[in-house]
Amino acid sequence: MLKVEDNQLITQTDPGTPMGELFRQYWIPVVKSDEVAEPNGKPLKIKILGEDLLVFRDTEGKLGLVDEKCPHRRTSLSLGLNADCGLTCIYHGWKFDVAGNCVDLPSEPANSNLKKGIHLKAYSVEEKNGIVWGYLGPKESQPPLPEFYWMNLPEDQLIAERVWQECNYLQVMENDVDYVHAAFLHKALNDQDISSELLSSDLGINPSHPLVKNPPVKQAVENTNYGKRCIGVGEEDEERYAFMEIHYIFPFYTFPPRMKGEDGMWHAFIPRDDNSTWSWDVQFSHDKPIDGAGQSQRRGLIVDSDLRKLRNLGNDYEQDRSLMIDANYSGIRGIANQDHAVTETMGPIVDRSREHLGTSDLPLIHMRRMLLEQVKGLKKKEKALHEIPLKDLFSCGTVDTKTKTWNEALPLKAAFELTYDKQVEET
Ligand code: FES
Ligand SMILES: [Fe+2]
Repeated sequence: MLKVEDNQLITQTDPGTPMGELFRQYWIPVVKSDEVAEPNGKPLKIKILGEDLLVFRDTEGKLGLVDEKCPHRRTSLSLGLNADCGLTCIYHGWKFDVAGNCVDLPSEPANSNLKKGIHLKAYSVEEKNGIVWGYLGPKESQPPLPEFYWMNLPEDQLIAERVWQECNYLQVMENDVDYVHAAFLHKALNDQDISSELLSSDLGINPSHPLVKNPPVKQAVENTNYGKRCIGVGEEDEERYAFMEIHYIFPFYTFPPRMKGEDGMWHAFIPRDDNSTWSWDVQFSHDKPIDGAGQSQRRGLIVDSDLRKLRNLGNDYEQDRSLMIDANYSGIRGIANQDHAVTETMGPIVDRSREHLGTSDLPLIHMRRMLLEQVKGLKKKEKALHEIPLKDLFSCGTVDTKTKTWNEALPLKAAFELTYDKQVEET
């Protein structure tokens, strides 16, 4: 449960809001490179943190991430001509390069100085592993792009997906650290013959999988230098426990739980505005080409040209109640679609003053606490993300004897330990 004021504080991210300004200090995945593949192609509209922006690739292949609106009289530059290293507004011909410089202003007299004072808002952009990243914060405090584990894998071992999720980022992100929900929402009622790399079919996760077999007998959350590590300990058999982990990398990246040998997953939850989110998903195989079709099919997100789901709130996510009798717990196909259903039906911004949390909600309680501490300036982060060797971080679960504690079975690498504010909380 949160106070109404705190709920507003951590869910509002438009320009000028405290959380919006905090989020702008971090690199954000913006669009996939193949969405803006063509030099001189059509500019792509993208809303992030409540700002209407455009991404375009100029004649030389350089990328621009700029304000959608022309600084002259605010017409949309999405209709503009993208040619000769710039974007030209169709209203009066003002032209801008990828850095936002006004390079032509033909509607004014030739001797006019107006051009020098005109600038289109333009943000820093970097392209890596087929994703265009943007930095929307102050230039003087711009950090290097963080180096996540999957960024060092070959191209054929990755697939990335960007989907419009119809609710506030925080309830999407809380769902990602909600370890317990998998045992219910994502449960397939019968074991299915699925390849060992895939976590699930589109119905759900096998009932024999540690995430689903039993709700955890114990959970733990520990503070780390990147954010929080959340551990779930489940009963595997009489002698052994299954230990799984979730990494929350502040402020909006996660690695959901995976067992050793399964393809990994990384998420980023980027507020589109306060009522919707760009849910980013990168799936990766550690050592061989990824089964991209299998991964997409099991996730079950079928989208239109705006990346909005066809299985959605308006059609109850195509829930089939006959599936609930003999196939899966939710009656919904697509494991990601199941997540979208439970988070979007909370409403655009859930009223956290009306919740009743239990001990099983420990991970999301910690996530909220960290967001509040940081946005209120109550705690200082020990290291910036680019100073942490994130390339060595991903989720990995294991089965081990019950004589081991969770931190013996799944030790945190020394590089991620905090030197102060070390804290662990367990259920
Ligand atoms: S509104 Fe864009 S040039 Fe006039
Ligand atoms: Fe889920």
